[in-house]
Amino acid sequence: MSTIKESSKLDLMKNEYCHTWTGGLHRILCMQGGDDDGSYAKNSEAPASAISLSKPLLLAGIQSMKLFKGDDDECLRIADLGCATGYNTLATIDLVVETLRGQYIKECGYEPEFEAFFSDLPSNDFNSLFRSFQQFNDTSKKRRYYAAGVPGSFYHRLFPSRKLHVAVSLSALHWLSQIPNAVLDKRSAAWNKGRAWIDGAKKEVIEAYSKQSMEDLEAFLRCRREEIVEGGLLFILMAGRPSSQRPENQLGDPDSRAKHPFTSSMDQAWEDLLNEGLIEEETRDTFNIPAYMRSTDEVDKAFRGCGGFEIQRLEYRRIVEHSREKQEEWIKDPVSYGRAKANMVRATLKPMVESHLGPELSEELFMRFEKRASVDTAMLHKTCFYGVIIVCAIRV
Ligand SMILES: C[S@@+](CC[C@H](N)C(=O)[O-])C[C@H]1O[C@@H](n2cnc3c(N)ncnc32)[C@H](O)[C@@H]1O
Repeated sequence: MSTIKESSKLDLMKNEYCHTWTGGLHRILCMQGGDDDGSYAKNSEAPASAISLSKPLLLAGIQSMKLFKGDDDECLRIADLGCATGYNTLATIDLVVETLRGQYIKECGYEPEFEAFFSDLPSNDFNSLFRSFQQFNDTSKKRRYYAAGVPGSFYHRLFPSRKLHVAVSLSALHWLSQIPNAVLDKRSAAWNKGRAWIDGAKKEVIEAYSKQSMEDLEAFLRCRREEIVEGGLLFILMAGRPSSQRPENQLGDPDSRAKHPFTSSMDQAWEDLLNEGLIEEETRDTFNIPAYMRSTDEVDKAFRGCGGFEIQRLEYRRIVEHSREKQEEWIKDPVSYGRAKANMVRATLKPMVESHLGPELSEELFMRFEKRASVDTAMLHKTCFYGVIIVCAIRV
């Protein structure tokens, strides 16, 4: 709890930072950089599980690609779109390069050169990413590709035409390009009062998000259609839902919904700040998390609308939230569970929350989140799931 002196300092801070934001999202939507306890690099266990789950599909996709034999330009180019920092992107690029390299050696008797593009929003911590190359290569095999960083939004063009042979985007496309304007308009039926996110929200809010999500996915596909060579591969893994699940139910079963970091504990933490007089109601109501879990039908529709791709696989899968061992460890120590959960939320949302509240109030919010999560011991015993959609498509 803050002292009176601290809260007047916070009062000053809130005037400085409380503003409404939509379009400038690309400047603040990024994972927390660095490598401390609240960084993305230290809190990417769930995306790592999703990648392990999708790895056989990625391998099968690469193996089904035609080889680009005898092309003038004997360099294969791979991009990871929404790479963030940490082990996941390095391991993924390594997997793609090693698999292609093995195929070329086996079938053509030579190995081509490889160039890998690590792409994310300009606010991504590219320095941490490139610093971690050394560490990764110490523990792994030799790096067999030239590397480059490409800052920019994947909802826009990032590469010249017909440049890429493989493009992957992992656990990133559920982040929208912006919060729909109507959701932030107090006079609109889509004003999302009292919630940080959309799970269980009013029909108008869901519709606004769903429309934005379709526009965004179409824009993403149109750009990749230009950038990927014929016969090249587009592999996407994103948070998603099965088509049987209505969009207002973004997360599946009731426990998974209640325990998700964007729902109950998050809304309670905002409510705590409000009840303690640290923020105005409008400040809470203008904060929205720009994520949307698409259904397999919505993804299929966007691909068909765009054209230029042949879908090889389009699947919905569920992944368990944590390992059994981790859950048992946390049941014995709910405080460390609250801390771990809050660190996960810091890793994903801190730059966004800071831009809305400023650094001090933002930390107050995460502290309340931590407390709320650690006292909810009943939830700790539940096994919860995340849904993901995996798409493997060839540029035709
Ligand atoms: C949860 S992280 C996933 C990182 C990594 N692919 C992994 O699997 O660990 C999502 C990443 O998507 C990036 N991202 C979100 N919207 C983006 C956009 N419009 N353009 C490029 N990157 C974006 C974020 O900055 C973040 O680094």
